[in-house]
Parts: sequence; C-alpha cells; structure tokens
Amino acid sequence: MNEKSFSLEVDYRYFKKKILETTGIALDAYKPRQMQRRIKELSERKGFYTLKKFWSFLEKNPEEYRKFLDYITINFSEFFRDVDRFNELERKIIPDLLTRTPNLRIWSAACATGEEPYSVAIILEKSYPEVTTRILATDIDEGALEKAKIGIYDKTHVKNVPPVILDRYFIRKGESFIVKENIKRRVKFKKINLLEDNFPREFFWLILCRNMIIYLEDEIKNTLLVKLHNSLRKGGVLFLGGTEKILAPEKFGFKLIGNCFYQKI
Ligand SMILES: C[S@@+](CC[C@H](N)C(=O)[O-])C[C@H]1O[C@@H](n2cnc3c(N)ncnc32)[C@H](O)[C@@H]1O
Repeated sequence: MNEKSFSLEVDYRYFKKKILETTGIALDAYKPRQMQRRIKELSERKGFYTLKKFWSFLEKNPEEYRKFLDYITINFSEFFRDVDRFNELERKIIPDLLTRTPNLRIWSAACATGEEPYSVAIILEKSYPEVTTRILATDIDEGALEKAKIGIYDKTHVKNVPPVILDRYFIRKGESFIVKENIKRRVKFKKINLLEDNFPREFFWLILCRNMIIYLEDEIKNTLLVKLHNSLRKGGVLFLGGTEKILAPEKFGFKLIGNCFYQKI
C-alpha cells in the first residue's frame, strides 16, 4: 500500500465513523469498493481531495449534506419499476395470496420516495378494492420518506404509468403529478433501518424489498434475507428487484415462484 492509498484508507475510516454517528448508517454493510468510489467521486466533484475536508464542508452545509445522503442511499425509484413484474404481481401473486387470506398485509421495505408502495396501492384500488389493510412503507432515509408522504412526482417517475391510470389516480398540476388521496390513504410511512432496527412485530403476506440488497456485502445480505423470511407468513411472498437473485432459495426457506418472486415454504 503506498502512502496515498493509506491516507485515503484512514480518511475513509474517519468519514465512515462520522456518518455512523450522525445518521446511524453503517457504510461497512454496503459493498465497500463501490461505496468508497462513489463518495470519492462526489468529494472530488465538489473540489475536495481529502474526505476530512469534504466532511467539514458537509457539516457546515446542511443542504449539501442532504444531497450527499440522497446520493449515498441511491434512492431513485419510479412507479411500476419493471412493468412485467408488477403485471405478474397484479395478475398472479396477489390473487394467489388472496386465496390464503382476506387480510393482505404488505410491507414495502426500502420504499425510497414512495413510488413502489403507491404502485401497489394503485393495483389494490383498481383490481382488489376489497383489500383495505394499509401498506407499510419504510426506508432509512427521512428525506425520501418526507417526499413520499407529499406524493408529488415529475414525469420521469411516472413514465411507466398508463395514461388511463395517470388520469384516474393522479392530479396533474403543471409538470407534476400528485398522487390522489384515496391512494395515499392506503400507505403508512415509517423510518426503519433494515440493518439495525427492530423489524415490525407483525407478519406479512407480501414484502417488497427491491433494489436495495444489491448494494450489500454478501454476509449482510444473507442476514437480511433471513430476517425478511422471518417476517413473512408461511406461503407469503418476497418480491426482489430485477437483478437481485437468491442463488439457493431453499437454503433460506424460499421457493422461486416467478421471476423475482420467492415464496416462504
Ligand atoms: C434504489 S432505492 C430502491 C427503491 C425502491 N425499492 C425501488 O426498487 O424502486 C434503495 C433504497 O434503499 C434505501 N436503503 C438503503 N439502505 C437501507 C437500510 N439499511 N435500511 C432501509 N433502507 C435502506 C435507500 O434509502 C433507498 O431509498
């Protein structure tokens, strides 16, 4: 290790400690090389060539700190992300689950700015109005949750929403799309750090945890999968992101029942 890379290591350790103290986010849980590279890139883009200097800049600039958190938590989302999977959810997974229970408890874990739980709420409102239980939607990022509660999106986030659904479940205001109250009412937002906090005490029939575990170290990811499995009812389904495969689902007590859908056995 040369002197330069050593000082970067020391710097990164200091930076991680500060982030942990101020946000409770343990950066070590995320793929370290990827995370370190992203932070270094941002720091350099802002003109700081040591992470210590970058940290003191962030400390003094709350708005920049907010943007930085958005950047590291990567909270991009959109409505009906992976349209085919959401069609499968609507036409196969939800009706199957409804043969097992009328009380379909759903959890959107790592819901970012709310597009995911609202997409599920739209499906329920449209096709399964008899399901009245509220969807629990959680994320580690309070800023994202605030945006989610407000429910105003620009067109890039609704590009997968068919025009008829846009007309029915959104109010258009200039360039923005506002989620209607009947959809909002179906979702309850709460802050939960999936790697640190206690999980909800109830059990769910459907858990969406999409495009989050991909950033985790293998061991951390496996621990999270076990916890998600524990939070499901037997026969309940875990819905993962398009690039997040469980290689040996049986080892975790799951059976693959569709692309991205894992049923608790
Ligand atoms: C790329 S977004 C995925 C959003 C949505 N699930 C989707 O697929 O469109 C990843 C989200 O995971 C959240 N996240 C990252 N680490 C987390 C943790 N430890 N606990 C809870 N949420 C976390 C981030 O804040 C971010 O909102």
